[in-house]
Amino acid sequence: MKRLVSGIKPTGDLTLGNYIGAIKQFVNMQNELIDTEFFIFIADLHAITTPQERLVLRKNIKSIAALYIACGLDPEKVNIFIQSEISEHAELNYIMESTLYIGEMERMIQYKEKKESQTEGIRTSLLTYPALMAADILLYDANFVPIGEDQKQHLELTRTAANRFNFLYGDTFTIPEGIIPKTGARIMGLQNPEQKMSKSADKSAKDYILLIDDLKVVANKIKSAVTDSDNLVKFDKENKPGISNLLTIFSALTNISIKDLEEKYKDSNYGTFKSDLANVVVDELSPIQNKYNEIINSKELDDILDKGRDRAKLIARRKLDKVYHKVGLGRKK
Ligand code: TYM
Repeated sequence: MKRLVSGIKPTGDLTLGNYIGAIKQFVNMQNELIDTEFFIFIADLHAITTPQERLVLRKNIKSIAALYIACGLDPEKVNIFIQSEISEHAELNYIMESTLYIGEMERMIQYKEKKESQTEGIRTSLLTYPALMAADILLYDANFVPIGEDQKQHLELTRTAANRFNFLYGDTFTIPEGIIPKTGARIMGLQNPEQKMSKSADKSAKDYILLIDDLKVVANKIKSAVTDSDNLVKFDKENKPGISNLLTIFSALTNISIKDLEEKYKDSNYGTFKSDLANVVVDELSPIQNKYNEIINSKELDDILDKGRDRAKLIARRKLDKVYHKVGLGRKK
């Protein structure tokens, strides 16, 4: 049996970027991959690499759990759990910190970018973050890790950690493979299509679509997305980043190829294209929001998280014991 692992940080409400780059892949793969056990978690320990308000964090953790289900993850097929409820993640993190080098951490693009945007008190964990991510993945001997493009470098470092550990202590970890979607691995902002779509305090709310945004607001955000003045629906990332991003979103949500979309809209103006795209996005989000509202305060959600935690814990503990033994920690059992 193979394993698949992935997670999302609860640092804010989820965006359409998270959905297309990550969650949609999880849902598709759950139906396509046989002989694979899925572990999809809420990466709450990762959230506190930057300051969070405790009650907001709590709310966001639950919200991601509900969105996983609302987006179509089937708890019968997928172990859904909260990272901090499995203490082995933090324990293996330390082993990973003792495997990876500081220079390797300092080279991470996301660290460099986040460091730039923070004015005070950069937390140590912001630097060592990839060690925790490696622990998340290697703890379950994941074969597959579905992620968006921005996590590619962290996954590479995870592979480095696994190889190094195996070399130092003997074969222990499976070397994971990153799965990055062909279309939609990097959804860009609607107002600033040169930057990745993400929810952050310094960005206008019009730049991103939240999965739980009011649907009228969603349609308006699409309609007011920045485009160029050509009025030609054509994919050209360099010269027409705005319309290219909208084509990517359209294609990722409908599975219609970008080529076919260009053909379909070759005689249309941006207004028509955006209006159709707004309908596509609203139709995608509407059932998700209904399900979300149904489940967010339910006991069922807690039961799902308990079940996921128990299964994850079993695997994680066994693996960690093995790792400690290989490193020579503690007493021989
Ligand atoms: P996070 O929480 O920033 O993002 C979660 C997932 O969403 C993808 N994503 C995007 N994809 C396309 N376009 C975008 N604009 C966009 N924004 C985000 C991310 O690539 C990611 O797949 N470190 C991870 C969480 C994590 C993890 C793990 C993932 C912790 N441990 C182990 C996989 C395996 C993170 O911060 O992702």
